[in-house]
Amino acid sequence: IRVAVIGGGRNCEHDVSLASAAAVADALDQAGHHAVRLTIDPAGVWRDGEGQPIGLAAAVDVLRSCAVAFPVLHGPRGEDGTLAALCGLADVPCVGSPLGAGALAMDKWATKLVAGALGIAAAPARLLTRAEARSYAFTHPVVVKPVAAGSSHGVTLVGEAAALGPALEAAFAHDHRVLVEEVMTGREIDVAVLGRPDGSRVVAPPLEILVPDGRIFDHAAKYGGPPAFVVPAPLDEVARKQIEQAAVSMYDALGCAGVVRVDFFLTAHGPVLNEVNTTPGFTAQSQVPRMFAAAGTPFGALLDLLVRDALP
Ligand code: DAL
Ligand code: MG
Repeated sequence: IRVAVIGGGRNCEHDVSLASAAAVADALDQAGHHAVRLTIDPAGVWRDGEGQPIGLAAAVDVLRSCAVAFPVLHGPRGEDGTLAALCGLADVPCVGSPLGAGALAMDKWATKLVAGALGIAAAPARLLTRAEARSYAFTHPVVVKPVAAGSSHGVTLVGEAAALGPALEAAFAHDHRVLVEEVMTGREIDVAVLGRPDGSRVVAPPLEILVPDGRIFDHAAKYGGPPAFVVPAPLDEVARKQIEQAAVSMYDALGCAGVVRVDFFLTAHGPVLNEVNTTPGFTAQSQVPRMFAAAGTPFGALLDLLVRDALP
């Protein structure tokens, strides 16, 4: 199957996406498919497999020459549904979530509203515009983050008043809306949900990220060296069921397709939703491939399934 694999993107997760897209394209080739590599460079210019700039119209022609598109873009202008929308307009089948799911999941505020409507706990947060941020005063430790970003760019754990201003600036550098969240104390547990065309949902064994006490799983912890994952996460039956059900409920409520990763904190009061990633990290060492490998589905087989399921 001829698959257009799109990586890069005009956002802070560009390099992470390049790594994911290269891994996906190589594994598709190894699985007997033909990956056609397309990249969106940091300036937003589409480039072909040789790195030559091509216009958007030529890029759409490349997409149309393929049976299916596989966007591996993380973050705004990619994972937020824009790529799914482009494929929809170009009439090219697309792996992964449609526009609406991508947009809702990329918006961490909207994600909380959906979780709240489902009765799924999410970290309490205040939404701040720049104007509102001026009168926000530090009273206790919080996590400051952009509403729409990824890979922890612009995210700061603020433990003292003096750190609040720089943290807000860092978050506003990525988005004009910022969340000030309660700090969640608990274990970090990720779940992968795969929706099949027949409506069934496959949940891979949850994964635990080992984060040192008093730290958050920030950008440095994510990409500074190999993060410590435990798959399957050691969970009691009650917690495992709660987390898996919440993950599937979010998947369905947001209208996701393909595979997504739903991230939780497991606190003393039960699981608390952190976020939903409709295009999670996709190198062979990333969480989703690790979780499916633990379930007996190797990377190539997972990609093969995603591609075939996306075909009309
Ligand atoms: N946003 C990064 C790529 C992830 O969720 O894995
Ligand atoms: Mg994310």
